Amino acid sequence: YGNPTPEIVFDAKNLSGKPIEKIERKIMDLNMIFKDKGASETMDQNQIVYEVDCYFPVENDTEGGLFFGITRIKPGKVGDEYFMTKGHFHSNRDRGEFYWGLEGEGQLLLMDEKRRARTEVIKKGSVHYIPGYIAHRVVNTGDTELSFGACWPSDAGHDYASIEEKGFSIRIVQKNGEQHIIKE
Ligand code: PA5
Ligand code: NI
Repeated sequence: YGNPTPEIVFDAKNLSGKPIEKIERKIMDLNMIFKDKGASETMDQNQIVYEVDCYFPVENDTEGGLFFGITRIKPGKVGDEYFMTKGHFHSNRDRGEFYWGLEGEGQLLLMDEKRRARTEVIKKGSVHYIPGYIAHRVVNTGDTELSFGACWPSDAGHDYASIEEKGFSIRIVQKNGEQHIIKE
């Protein structure tokens, strides 16, 4: 009964197996999310900022199913702002998600619909429950790759537009070699 899981294995570097789908996000895909637009425009537009390997055992929007992914964010900055994911609310706002750290170190930014924001340190072995109605973004504050796993409902969906329009209310930048949280 049920479909047996095809052979899929993961570590901090990879999620591999036949059904794995790979997504790459380059500077050219992320120009709108960084504070310093001038800096991002002068960078190599083909430079990869992060990669996501995904396993979708059911069709998108299936109620009651789950998706699984591994994200790896390169070390780097745009101006003084660390490389980070686009960030999103779930389209179905009440859907939650788990993240867990695999390698490297960074900050998970969490923001509610009133734009109240907080952070959690994400590193090897850390577990993060992201409740529904909370936008989430991961920032690589280290000088090595930051890798984390994720598991989310197959009918969560991604609402990127709200974040593209208004951003997060906090950003993580490097000042004098140290990370600082700045408010928008
Ligand atoms: O489902 C998630 O929240 C993650 O798998 C993210 O999609 C992944 O980390 C990439 O981030 P984003 O979707 O914000 O580009
Ligand atoms: Ni999500």
